[in-house]
Amino acid sequence: MRFLILLGLAVSTVYTARAQFPAEQLRPYDYKIEKNITVPHGAVVSAHPLASRAGAQILQQGGNAIDAAIATQLALAVVYPGAGNLGGGGFMVAHLSNGKQLALDYRETAPARASRDMYLDSAGNPITTLSLDGHLAAGVPGTVAGIFAAMKYAKLPFATLIDPAILLAEKGFPITASEAANLNASKADFQRLNTAPTAFVKDQPWKEGDTLVQPDLAHTLKLIRKKGAAGFYEGETAANIVAEMKRGHGIMTLADLKNYKVRERKALSFNYKGYTIVTMPLPSSGGICLQQMMGMIENYPVAQWGFHSPRAVQLMVEVERRAYADRAQFLGDPDFVKVPVAQLTSKKYLTSRMADFVPGKAGNSETTKAGVLPESEETTHLSIIDDKGNAVAVTTTLNGHYGSRTIVGKAGFLLNNEMDDFSVKPGVPNMYGLVGTEANAIAPGKRMLSSMTPTIVLQQQQPLYALGTPGGSTIITSVFQMLMNTLEFGLSPADAINKPKFHHQWLPDEVAVEKDFPEEVITALQQMGYAIKKRGPIGRSEMIKRNPGNHVLDAAADKRGDDSAAGY
Ligand code: GLY
Repeated sequence: MRFLILLGLAVSTVYTARAQFPAEQLRPYDYKIEKNITVPHGAVVSAHPLASRAGAQILQQGGNAIDAAIATQLALAVVYPGAGNLGGGGFMVAHLSNGKQLALDYRETAPARASRDMYLDSAGNPITTLSLDGHLAAGVPGTVAGIFAAMKYAKLPFATLIDPAILLAEKGFPITASEAANLNASKADFQRLNTAPTAFVKDQPWKEGDTLVQPDLAHTLKLIRKKGAAGFYEGETAANIVAEMKRGHGIMTLADLKNYKVRERKALSFNYKGYTIVTMPLPSSGGICLQQMMGMIENYPVAQWGFHSPRAVQLMVEVERRAYADRAQFLGDPDFVKVPVAQLTSKKYLTSRMADFVPGKAGNSETTKAGVLPESEETTHLSIIDDKGNAVAVTTTLNGHYGSRTIVGKAGFLLNNEMDDFSVKPGVPNMYGLVGTEANAIAPGKRMLSSMTPTIVLQQQQPLYALGTPGGSTIITSVFQMLMNTLEFGLSPADAINKPKFHHQWLPDEVAVEKDFPEEVITALQQMGYAIKKRGPIGRSEMIKRNPGNHVLDAAADKRGDDSAAGY
């Protein structure tokens, strides 16, 4: 059988209306990465070609974008175990053809036995490994509940949507070179943090093309197919999770699982120069920060200054600094803390925030503790637009790559380490160097503050873009740049996601830039007084544009990973 993986290869394919793959065949052993496609009907972009294809097939079978998002997410839980998940959480933002907007919040929650200082030692110092590694790092998973909340808007039977994932888990699929490298790099952690044998560990190192078969995960998926959300939150799977917790000294209980609730939030929607930006409200900080950054920048002629011009980059850095300072101070789960959202996003406030902006001169963050920005590919995003007028953006996460690295014995899925997204102690940076205050302190049942920013752009109430990215604290600034790159600088989706990115998050007070960021812009920023830090790839973005004239879709997958587009 042919097994073809073209890693890092930008491939542009123009499809005719004829289907690329027969709907009934997933062909796990015959896939390739497609970086940029142009299709007339429906498109899916996600972190793995098989997941994108699973979603595209659902569109071809008559499913809508929500059906495809469900199938893609379930497939990602199998083929992209580092971030696709059953044991994590996420957000879905959608614009439906009837004009309804969805913001499904299936973020993990702190278990009932969690407490504010649970990751501090007796002297009050953080033991950071506890919120990152193993059983105690896991929040109560929300993904499966989120999928069933989305089913209300789907067309096809659930079995049709989950069957591709079951096939991939049961029969296996050949892994990519990057998956092999990641599994090898995490082998010691898997061995240290698990109490039962797992499909991810074998004697010999993994290599590209090896088949990954996940029978325990296939069994769990079948329980979900048969019993719905109860196949995860109750019965055998819930018992497996709690048994795993007991073996590994975790605190999640049967009651935590049974009590998990999805929240249907009101999507955060705001106007930017005639475009409607639809994105995720709290407990994601993403939407509010995006609205703040776009509000602060709106009055400046950035398009005239040009893409990656030092003036434009400096202004974007300064609005990022201010939004992240507010994030640290004010934002947390709105079900637990009062957040002054209207004030933070008011035009008057945003204008006043820029009063001390000096063009050509670096601003200054009040330094408390400088955090370290790690280079990790946590979290994953998928974008879908169908031919019925629906657009969906989903960002879902285990937090770190492979989450807590703990796999539920007999159930075969990884648990998140989302508890680290809480502020374990005010002012102490988390794994992304983000600091927080009481607003994001741990409390039983509370949702930890997120940066995930699944976003849809409407023009005259019709979907124009669906976009988003993983990347921890860099998610918000990446989405901000993708929007500026397209709406202001006129870049194509492929350029908007692939051109080198930069990031400022207030603390540490430095501009992080990708290694291929233009040297002349770096020099100009240094001359203005900015500290520059070169770092690895920022995000893995997925963006689809629906051409307003002929409705043709331009679907672009990030060059930075195995990300791939599919459509018809
Ligand atoms: N775990 C990454 C985020 O939710 O922001």
